Amino acid sequence: MLTLVAAAYLSLPLMDQLTLRWFARDLNTRGELIANTLSDPVSEALAAENRKRMQSLIDRAIQDERMVAIGLCDREGNIVVRTAQFPKTLSCASASLMSQQPEPRLRMDGGPVHVGVHPVMTESGRVADLVLLHDLSFVDRRSLDTRRYLIVLISCLGLAIALITMVVAQLSWRGWVSGVRAIMRGEGLLSPMLGPGNGNSPPPELEPFAADLRARLRDLEDEYRRSQGPEAEWNPDRLRQLLHSRMRGDQVIVVSNREPYIHEKEGQRNVVKRPASGLVTAVEPVMRACSGTWIAHGSGSGDRQAVDPHDRVRVPPGHEEYTLRRVWLTAEEEKGYYYGFANEGMWPLCHVAHVRPVFRESDWQAYREVNQRFADAVVAESRSENPIVLVQDYHFALLPAMIRKRLPRATILTFWHIPWPNPESFGICPWRREILQGMLGSTILGFHTRYHCKNFLETVDRYLEARIEHEYSTISFQEDTTLIEAYPISIEWPTDETVASWPSIPACRNKLMERLDVGPDHRIALGVDRFDYTKGILERLHAVERMLEKYPEWIGRFSFVQVAAPSRSSLEEYKSFQDRIHQVTARINERFGRSGYLPVHLLAQHFAHDAVNELYRGADVCVVTSLHDGMNLVCKEFVAARDDRQGVLILSRFAGAAREMPEALVVNPYHVEETADALLRAITMPMAEQRERMSSLRATVREFNVYRWAGRMLADAGRARMRERIEARVQRHQDSHTDEAPLLVRG
Ligand code: F6P
Repeated sequence: MLTLVAAAYLSLPLMDQLTLRWFARDLNTRGELIANTLSDPVSEALAAENRKRMQSLIDRAIQDERMVAIGLCDREGNIVVRTAQFPKTLSCASASLMSQQPEPRLRMDGGPVHVGVHPVMTESGRVADLVLLHDLSFVDRRSLDTRRYLIVLISCLGLAIALITMVVAQLSWRGWVSGVRAIMRGEGLLSPMLGPGNGNSPPPELEPFAADLRARLRDLEDEYRRSQGPEAEWNPDRLRQLLHSRMRGDQVIVVSNREPYIHEKEGQRNVVKRPASGLVTAVEPVMRACSGTWIAHGSGSGDRQAVDPHDRVRVPPGHEEYTLRRVWLTAEEEKGYYYGFANEGMWPLCHVAHVRPVFRESDWQAYREVNQRFADAVVAESRSENPIVLVQDYHFALLPAMIRKRLPRATILTFWHIPWPNPESFGICPWRREILQGMLGSTILGFHTRYHCKNFLETVDRYLEARIEHEYSTISFQEDTTLIEAYPISIEWPTDETVASWPSIPACRNKLMERLDVGPDHRIALGVDRFDYTKGILERLHAVERMLEKYPEWIGRFSFVQVAAPSRSSLEEYKSFQDRIHQVTARINERFGRSGYLPVHLLAQHFAHDAVNELYRGADVCVVTSLHDGMNLVCKEFVAARDDRQGVLILSRFAGAAREMPEALVVNPYHVEETADALLRAITMPMAEQRERMSSLRATVREFNVYRWAGRMLADAGRARMRERIEARVQRHQDSHTDEAPLLVRG
């Protein structure tokens, strides 16, 4: 509005000037017309020196409404005749001078006049000049009128604009307010502004604001979720409650090859060790919560010494929360069942790691016999006819059907800790049908991922006459139905007390630096694995070598520590693999090492859990590059260890964990270049990015912990048991009905 007034105010003088010019031009044209009209009579009167006639001619011409005065000048510039109003002071010369001005204006008593001088022409040329004085007061009057109109127009225009602006502003402010309120209420964004059927996207002018607001709200929500932890956290208490409510405290029996505690003779002492096993890491906390019986191969040199006459020992040592029942195997049995069929046959068969499986008839016999031995142990340990039996892993593919035969009402949960291959790969196993039939003795068969479930369903479809219900993910074979389900395994999330008992991150870091003899700026990457060819240790070393080759500025400033717990070392495949790793380590150290600096530290020894945890807390990066892995728990342990929310995880896309942990730097371990670049990215990652990724990983692992894994399986088992009970009751009703029927007939 103000701008409009200012513009009008500034433009008025300009308009005055313009109108004046237009009028001046108009008056000049009129003057020329009058002069032309008067030329002939005036020149005749001049020639006749008839002053009276001249006077009468100009007096008549003055009748024009805008003409004020006329004067006739002769060729010498003298006034010959003039009308009454013609100023006596105005000479012909000064009138001529004035008429040549851009604004030929003369102020007279009656108001301003326009001065025009026009020649009176005859055929012989100019004979006189007519001085015409036109009234200009009408110009001023018109200018005044124009000003008034303009001011009224601008005021009206301003008012109209102001009014429209206010209405629009009001409407759009209301829109903004209701849009923001809708966002706050979590409704469809700006739905209040949109009529029905207008779609869900906000108007374009609100789009950036809406996007920012949405992003901010998500950030806040993430932060809140992380700070709160999972809604109803799975923990030992919840698992116990589930067992009591859904299973009425029924007996839980776990069967695995590897035992959770191994007694080893060291001189006179019998020391207890925890094996390097993902299975044990996951199942042990569940067992502590369930207080059941764990049946496993007693493989330690001091194991026999530690058990009671029934081959049982209460564990964990000092806490004694559940019973470990040991099964003894001869060296021959162990060779055929464990080293032979399980680890030379099934292990490479299920892992795509390009190692050929070996199938020997003798190993298969041993495998069957040992499975039977464990089935006997389950029956012996069972206090009822329907215990809950948790069968673990590829060592016991035949066990579920064997238990089912002896304890038909048992609930058997089998969990396959390694991947399940596609039907073609599995099809090379000479005893593929027996293995599938054995596994289908289970009530529930669990794998880590949906992908492995799908492979299993397809394998059964290919090799057995079974009914598969894809909708329910069940397989009905002979009399039994098995639910095939994905249960991603995890770790126990450390409690606050556990975390408080750990040495601090700086202490762990200092200890690791001292061990490697490096300074605080040194970057340290860590790998923790069983010494197994599926773990991608060789590929990892190649990536370290390539990284130093590609980015030589890191030579002397970066080290890689590989903890490799000895495993299955009596197998030729493992021996040659381990030799190869030692050789490659030596080569890299020779190539890039120097006095006081080793790029690779290979620690081929067993580390206790606390020691591994300190390494996790001291390192900058944890590298998991499995060529194929059911889940992999090292990556989850690393994340759980980093309560400082620092540290970077490099994770193989071929580990089941990669599906749950996309915030890691996910790599293809076969792609050395990609892994080398991921290493560089990890050691140069800004702290803020590390925090962002690690916080999210921690939230996932905390929520999807091992109690949830066990809880989901046991809840499914609970449902299956309830269904069985209902079926049994229905059957009883039917039976009693058929018993009574003849009586009724008779009656
Ligand atoms: O990966 C499957 C798995 O059963 C792990 O849980 C465990 O770490 C390993 O295989 C078995 O190792 P071992 O042969 O030393 O018991």
